[in-house]
Amino acid sequence: MMGKHNQVPEGIIDGLGLLYKRTIPVMVIITVIFFAPLSFTYFFDETHTSNLSDKALAILVSPDFAYGVGSGTLSDLNGGQIKRYLRHLPAMFSHTIAGSIAIVIGLAQFNSTIQFKYGSLHRFLGRLYILCALVISWSSALFLADTIPKDEVFSGHTFAYVLSSLSVGLLVTIALALRAIWKRDISSHREFMVMNYAFMLSAPVLRVQWIILGRLWGETKYIINLYSAIFSGPFLVATSILYLRQRYARPSNSFLVSSQFRQIVAACGLLGFVFQIIKGPSLNGGPYPKAFILALGAPLAFYMALFTVLARAASRRRDMGSYTAWVTYQNGLISAPMWSVLVFYVARDVMRCSEENLGMITVAGGVVQGLFISFVVHVLATSKDNGHLLSKNL
Ligand code: HEM
Repeated sequence: MMGKHNQVPEGIIDGLGLLYKRTIPVMVIITVIFFAPLSFTYFFDETHTSNLSDKALAILVSPDFAYGVGSGTLSDLNGGQIKRYLRHLPAMFSHTIAGSIAIVIGLAQFNSTIQFKYGSLHRFLGRLYILCALVISWSSALFLADTIPKDEVFSGHTFAYVLSSLSVGLLVTIALALRAIWKRDISSHREFMVMNYAFMLSAPVLRVQWIILGRLWGETKYIINLYSAIFSGPFLVATSILYLRQRYARPSNSFLVSSQFRQIVAACGLLGFVFQIIKGPSLNGGPYPKAFILALGAPLAFYMALFTVLARAASRRRDMGSYTAWVTYQNGLISAPMWSVLVFYVARDVMRCSEENLGMITVAGGVVQGLFISFVVHVLATSKDNGHLLSKNL
């Protein structure tokens, strides 16, 4: 049941199905090939005035975008982000090297010949990949612990929150993937590693958005980076989900699709929503509120509509495995306001994020957390040894 079966019905969304099956892997390969050399050599330029990455941005977007105000380079008016990197050079140097190695290794790990024919190579590369992930999380934590209190993170506290949750997400998915493989549950291992790799791809995906929006919108890197990061969280989680469901089936779970569970989730979402209205921070959408709506509101509506269409199609086909998946992801989005309460307290009281950013962090953080947790719940509840526990409770 958990084999290689398509859970996105081909008849219904042929175009989208084909897009995810063919185009997405090709785009990932191109992005990795493009970005790995740029990030690998990021700190090779000893004068720190013009590395390969900035040179590429100057050509692909504009010299002003790469070196002007809001670029974060030494020539930036504020002295630039690069000064903060230099304060943490050993960590940030290891970060860019480990990150570049991880995105290349991660790509190789998708190759089914390496997975099944050369198992020992897959395991060796997997260990190297985990080492890289640990270096990335360690270096990010070191950098963020110093720069968040001083409000020195590029694009402000909202981006700092995104990076912090990314760093935690990286460790959580690695831990769950390792737990799955120790239980010989290959299918769950695959789910968590795909999500983990999507988190790794946040770095190149952000740079692709810098280039596209830098050309189309013409704003500074500082601003574009902020809204790209808000868009990227739910995008990376949703893309991994669609990638996985396009290729691999999982069993059904009666508790996850029950109306009792939906009612509990809806009640929690509603309570979270009421909390946000009464006690939550004011939502200003940052310097460009319309961009905030475009980056978060529009994709959110799209994912909700898509999960609903796919759930209905699965129900018509009586494909309860697929139905369980789509309904659970829907529940994730419905529960978002509840998660945003947690995000609010963590951002305000633990990370001490500034008041003006709390609204954006709360809403964006709640959405991505709700969707991510629904993904984790779905995998755990449909895994070999855990699934029956939830179903029996019904
Ligand atoms: C997935 C987890 C990751 C986290 C949590 C993370 C976190 C961070 C943090 C905190 C910074 C410094 C803050 C900033 O100015 O943006 C940074 C910068 C950077 N990271 Fe990562 N990173 C991750 C993955 C990666 C990967 C996989 C790569 C390489 C493929 C990478 C390459 C870079 C580069 C090149 C910079 C310098 C910033 C620039 O391009 O201007 N990171 N990252």
